[in-house]
Amino acid sequence: MTGQPVALITGCSTGVGLHTAVRLAEAGHTVVATMRDPGKQQALLDACAAAGVSVEISLLDVCNQGSIDAAVTDVIARHGRIDVLVNNAGAGFLGSVEQTGDADLRRTMETNFFGVWNLTKAVLPQMRAQSSGKIISVTSVGGLLGQPFNEAYCAAKFAVEGMMEGLAPLAKQFGVDLCLVEPGPINTEFVASVRATSAAVLASLQEPYATLAQRYMGSTGDVFATYGQTGDEIARIIAALATSASPNFRTITSEFAKAMVSSKVVDPTGNSVIKIFAERLKG
Ligand SMILES: NC(=O)c1ccc[n+]([C@@H]2O[C@H](COP(=O)([O-])OP(=O)(O)OC[C@H]3O[C@@H](n4cnc5c(N)ncnc54)[C@H](OP(=O)(O)O)[C@@H]3O)[C@@H](O)[C@H]2O)c1
Repeated sequence: MTGQPVALITGCSTGVGLHTAVRLAEAGHTVVATMRDPGKQQALLDACAAAGVSVEISLLDVCNQGSIDAAVTDVIARHGRIDVLVNNAGAGFLGSVEQTGDADLRRTMETNFFGVWNLTKAVLPQMRAQSSGKIISVTSVGGLLGQPFNEAYCAAKFAVEGMMEGLAPLAKQFGVDLCLVEPGPINTEFVASVRATSAAVLASLQEPYATLAQRYMGSTGDVFATYGQTGDEIARIIAALATSASPNFRTITSEFAKAMVSSKVVDPTGNSVIKIFAERLKG
């Protein structure tokens, strides 16, 4: 390869995506930082100016196949290659199975799973032709452990985990590395966005769910305050994977997250995980 590696990142208006765009630019990538609403680009431009780097900003809504195809075609037309895809865009939803309507379920799956599937599918032919590339997907501890009131979100993140674990050995045959980044809590815009999207459901909760949700959200707030990482910490991890000659498939991003996940691995009955979250629902 001659010239700078080219990175395409989704969801760069805020949080992990914004910081990843800056960190990859600092690491010498040509960064195509995408967002579904380019009207939100000012925060990224300010962060780039502060870091003394520049990125290209373009439109990409991961829920829209036309938008995916246009963005990928444009990057290949202008740069001739795609070396790194960061599947970062994501959105949560709070509500248990009984309160999750079809539209909320489908939007959650479209954003967190189908978007990843369709964008990965769109870049793979180019990466195969290059015989190289990295596809780094931000899932979550919620892609390894189911969590109450997050059934739709966890289902979507589990789906990404299954997809990528299946694809990774095959992609390796073509010189393409796949990586999963699995954070626990991160203090970004995420929680506020989830609460806004789920406001109607949360406001209409009846007993026994209302009390359980209140307890769960209270204890989860404590967890974010105590153990939450910053968007930039996750971005540095993504940048390290993007620049590694032999990146690990799976990166659980904090000791707190590793401890949670290990309870699943060491207990084949699955009871330990249920206990962790049942505790958070207790008064
Ligand atoms: N924050 C956490 O506690 C946490 C924990 C584990 C994993 N994660 C995962 O980390 C990733 C980054 O989240 P974050 O914490 O940085 O949250 P964030 O600040 O809310 O950022 C999410 C980004 O995704 C974008 N997005 C949402 N729907 C989109 C769509 N249809 N097309 C394109 N972009 C879309 C958002 O754009 P808009 O500004 O237009 O909404 C925003 O740029 C997500 O995959 C999330 O699931 C987060």
